[in-house]
Amino acid sequence: MIRKTAARLVAATALAAIGTAAMAAEVNVYSSRHYDSDDALYAEFTKETGIKVNRIEGKADELIARLEAEGDNSPADVLITVDAGRMARAEEAGVLQAYPSAVIDKAVPAHLRHPDDLWFGVSQRARIIFYAKDRVENPPRTYEELADPKFKGQICIRSSSNVYNQSLLASIIEADGAVEAKEWAAGVVANMARAPQGGDTDQLLGIVSGECDIAVANHYYFLRGFDSDVEGLTAGIDNIGWVWPNQSGRGAHLNLTAAAMAKSAPHPEEAKTLLEFLTGDFAQHHFANQNNEYPAVPGVGLDVDTARLGFFIPDTQTPTSAFSANAKEAQAIFNEVDWQ
Ligand code: FE2
Repeated sequence: MIRKTAARLVAATALAAIGTAAMAAEVNVYSSRHYDSDDALYAEFTKETGIKVNRIEGKADELIARLEAEGDNSPADVLITVDAGRMARAEEAGVLQAYPSAVIDKAVPAHLRHPDDLWFGVSQRARIIFYAKDRVENPPRTYEELADPKFKGQICIRSSSNVYNQSLLASIIEADGAVEAKEWAAGVVANMARAPQGGDTDQLLGIVSGECDIAVANHYYFLRGFDSDVEGLTAGIDNIGWVWPNQSGRGAHLNLTAAAMAKSAPHPEEAKTLLEFLTGDFAQHHFANQNNEYPAVPGVGLDVDTARLGFFIPDTQTPTSAFSANAKEAQAIFNEVDWQ
């Protein structure tokens, strides 16, 4: 589903388009989503509104650095990232502006929105626990339990440089306090089956190969093993079980694909129209079907593959803005406990 070469081509084309922009209504999007199928999303927006979309794709940190460098002259109207923690960096860098919108406030629950309308979630991604059914009888039922010494040598999780883990730890700081969170991180490091390596898919592959008994990954990496033939995963997927963590407590940790208005947006009206479109029916179904994400807007149906994971209680107590507020502290803890 991720096609980087194609994404670069799209970026190059979009750049050219921005350079030669005509007088027609348009909106310039900087996006860290790399999905060809997002073309269909923007095509529908243009069809409905007559506003042309020029899209530049890149890594979130690069896009944020670019926004900073461009300053007041930035052509960017809208920024889209696949992690609220990254959006926090954009906020810190001062490259966002508020987009007050009654439409967005009504559609998206408050815990998925920045308190001052600097960004909001368009879809959600769950970070959950997976395990080898044939080797683990009682998997951890909470994130906290991942640090229990009884799981020594069993856990695979990627490096602390990964923003998904940074946001997870930030949420644990919020829920349990910094002292507990540091003990937790140290406990997870002590339980690791191997030094952190690879992406989320690699943690799941470790369960299949037998190197890991328990893994932490975002839910859609697992679902890709059903949706398509993922080498090393699909053949062994029936032996992978999953746990929705903290179901008798605060609920499962969800991260966001988030959208925001750029500070120097040359087309603020068009930008707001696009942001509102992202909370509408077409866009919400697009996010649900295309990457098996959970829609941010309540009541939108799930993709059948996503529905396979069943019902769960999401953590709605921990505000997503805490991921950003605690990001620095999370990084400090990771360094202190030597989580590579
Ligand atoms: Fe991902």
